[in-house]
Amino acid sequence: MKLKIALLPGDGIGPEVLTQAKKCLQAVEEAFNHSFHYTEAVVGAIAIDKTGDPLPEDTLKLCKNSDAVLFGAIGAPKYDNDPTAKVRPEQGLLRLRSELGLFSNIRPVKVFPTLIEKSPLRKEIISGTDFTIYRELTGGIYFGEKTLNEAGTVASDLCEYSEMEISRIAHMAFKAAKSRRNKLTLVDKANVLESSRLWRKVVTKIGESYPEVALDFLFVDNAAMQLILNPAQFDVILTENMFGDILSDEGSVIGGSIGLLPSASIGTENAMFEPIHGSYPQAKGLDIANPIAAILSAAMLLDHFGLDEEARAVVSAVNKSLKKNIVTPDLDAKSKYGTNHVGNFIADHIMDSEDHLNINDENIGLGKSTII
Ligand code: IPM
Ligand code: MN
Repeated sequence: MKLKIALLPGDGIGPEVLTQAKKCLQAVEEAFNHSFHYTEAVVGAIAIDKTGDPLPEDTLKLCKNSDAVLFGAIGAPKYDNDPTAKVRPEQGLLRLRSELGLFSNIRPVKVFPTLIEKSPLRKEIISGTDFTIYRELTGGIYFGEKTLNEAGTVASDLCEYSEMEISRIAHMAFKAAKSRRNKLTLVDKANVLESSRLWRKVVTKIGESYPEVALDFLFVDNAAMQLILNPAQFDVILTENMFGDILSDEGSVIGGSIGLLPSASIGTENAMFEPIHGSYPQAKGLDIANPIAAILSAAMLLDHFGLDEEARAVVSAVNKSLKKNIVTPDLDAKSKYGTNHVGNFIADHIMDSEDHLNINDENIGLGKSTII
């Protein structure tokens, strides 16, 4: 298969982890005889430094003309510590999501059996965790009208959703539940928010066309608690933009490190894949960042294009690195291995054909057909 892939390394550790993800895709090309074409472009703080714009026109054009975007991370301390900054790196990512129409953000959370002791939660609690969050990504409070009065003393952010915005992601989430364990939990705040009540109404109606899927509802405050009390109860979680942002960070600690979790952002025309971790500027250039989330994001990219065996080969090589404890220091403080070494190990083992079949031994990775 031929694919045009836009590489957007971004800021902080983004370039380091994306280098490893690209290395793994190149190993897949070689092992499976594909031809991927990569073009790099700037986004985020580095793009502001170069052009004044966190999403330069050239970058956007490249993404629109590519089959997929592989994204690193964005954000820099000089902006985080300056609430008055008019131009911010995050605006680049938000505009990209919006311009590419990436309304559905898919974040699988699984417990890696070899890492079960590393989670801050007890083994008995997290064992068996395997859920996927479907986070609406181009609407809600992130994109509603923002105001600040002249005196700078009163501010507001509007949370608005239309039936269309809810129903397109709801269908994806129901289909995902159908291919998994037939359970869908809508997380909202319908006891307080009008927008949440619309979510309930629309999702309940759509649920009638998926009779095999058991639909339940949780208020977001309760969901935050349930994720820690009993994460294994969830299969597919469907939720709006900001609740999904918060719950997915919470979910990420279940597995032991935020450095493990990939994500896919899917629209009708475009698709983008990115680790859910941020730019981790303290680690920039130190060769300590965990490349696994970025590498698993590349596996989600392969999965998206129907390259299942290729995706499994990547996941299987990741399993091997975890099993052999070829990991970065976030997973083992005594580890002497860095980002590059872990990336090399995984890329090298993508070629091991006998591993491709051996996918269940660790049971980690992408979840089953999370992408439609
Ligand atoms: C994420 C990030 C972004 C978000 C930021 C960087 C704008 O936290 O992808 O979860 O809030 O969506
Ligand atoms: Mn987030």
